[in-house]
Amino acid sequence: MGKASYAVTIAGGGSTFTPGIALMLLEERDRFPVNKITFYDNFAERQEIVARACEIYFRENAPEIEFSYTTDPETAFTGTDFVLAHIRVGLYAMREKDEKIPLKYGVLGQETCGPGGIAYGMRSIGGVIEILDYMEKYSPDAWMLNYSNPAAIVAEACRVLRPNSKIINICDMPVDLMDKMAYMCGVRDRRELQYSYYGLNHFGWWSKIFDKDGNDLMPEIKRHMAKNGYMDGIELTGEHAQHVEESWIHTFEKAKDVYAVDPDTIPNTYLKYYLYPDYVVETSNPEYTRANEVMDGREKKVFGECQRIIDAGTAKGCGFEADAHATYIVDLACALAENTMERFLLIVPNEGAVFNFDPTAMVEVPCIVGKNGYERICQGTIPQFQKGMMEQQVSVEKLVVQAWVEGSYQKLWQALTLSKTVPSAKVAKLILDDLIEANKGYWPELH
Ligand code: NAD
Ligand code: G6P
Ligand code: MN
Repeated sequence: MGKASYAVTIAGGGSTFTPGIALMLLEERDRFPVNKITFYDNFAERQEIVARACEIYFRENAPEIEFSYTTDPETAFTGTDFVLAHIRVGLYAMREKDEKIPLKYGVLGQETCGPGGIAYGMRSIGGVIEILDYMEKYSPDAWMLNYSNPAAIVAEACRVLRPNSKIINICDMPVDLMDKMAYMCGVRDRRELQYSYYGLNHFGWWSKIFDKDGNDLMPEIKRHMAKNGYMDGIELTGEHAQHVEESWIHTFEKAKDVYAVDPDTIPNTYLKYYLYPDYVVETSNPEYTRANEVMDGREKKVFGECQRIIDAGTAKGCGFEADAHATYIVDLACALAENTMERFLLIVPNEGAVFNFDPTAMVEVPCIVGKNGYERICQGTIPQFQKGMMEQQVSVEKLVVQAWVEGSYQKLWQALTLSKTVPSAKVAKLILDDLIEANKGYWPELH
């Protein structure tokens, strides 16, 4: 038995994902009772719009919940049990630069992969560590569940800089993909799937998938993957409505070609950036990247809806959606609070979970989660192909963190050079010098 009721702080209160998480917290109160919700952000005006709309929603649907929003760390983090963090240091304006600068040099531009992900990592580390420190100062027993990207680099930074902190880094991509797999196989709820998975964040593979009775679902999933990737037989509606834009649909379809490289496993969609970078560059518009799509789409939609609620003074008929992303974070908080011992894919120090891989790497593997944290499920020995790719990529991630800690230009250049998405040290340097210019005030000084 956990506490009777919990206090939750949402860090990055102005995030486009905040309304979905707020909604889910209300919907799931039977399982995970919440009596206090506080939004925290360092951008008061942005947070205010989301918070005022949620305030109306809470007042109408759960008046007993004590809700507030603030930019003051002491107010936000005192007396909290869970910090759900999803910040974006530099906002979409910097994401746009992360994506467009590499494209100038014929290299792909992506939020979390390649040079864009490295640039974002150099901005995120400080922001996430700052929130972790606030939590530990004002609520030393609390847990932080971090979604802030790039989760692989952020997780490695936390391992190095705050090894004993109660932080768990997570990603919702596998959750969405497991939703699709469950749907393909006629399984009602992805939570019934039993699976083996190994990799780094946005860089992993399923090696086994069973239904709740232990029947092997791999043959059926493989049949779908070989035909049309994750899009085979999927309707992107209802619960499957998280990643629905044209560019996401292409990514789900492209998984067919990613799968073809190793038909023994089922790949994470993000591997397309490493296995088909040339295709990604050819199909990118250097003038209009995913950041533009999100600013014109999700951001406008969420902030438009919030403003509409504020103007109407009521949230009746509001269009907020609680998607797989929100469900997962509440499920995880619930497991920690109520000791459910459910299985979650988490980003954790390897320490032998992948036998033939660096024990200090931050890997994404299934874990059993309860009140006292997580226990990894050993994934055994992985094949040469995956091991080779992971060794290269984990070195990129480790070099970025070392570059941030030491202020080392050399190590960041090495990180970019080592990325499978970058063709040479020369191109890496050109991109790096541009990124340094663009990230003035966000990155530590490099020498
Ligand atoms: P967003 O820009 O809409 O929201 C981010 C918020 O964080 C903004 O309101 C911003 O002001 C705030 N912020 C920035 N720096 C801060 C700091 N130092 N302290 C406090 N607040 C700060 O972004 P979004 O698209 O909603 O995404 C939010 C984050 O969630 C991103 O990092 C995104 O990559 C991540 N995300 C991760 C996953 C995952 O699978 N791990 C899934 C979805 C989103
Ligand atoms: C997936 C990934 C996240 C990413 C999110 C949103 O869910 O796991 O890490 O942030 O997609 O991407 P988008 O391009 O829609 O902002
Ligand atoms: Mn992710």
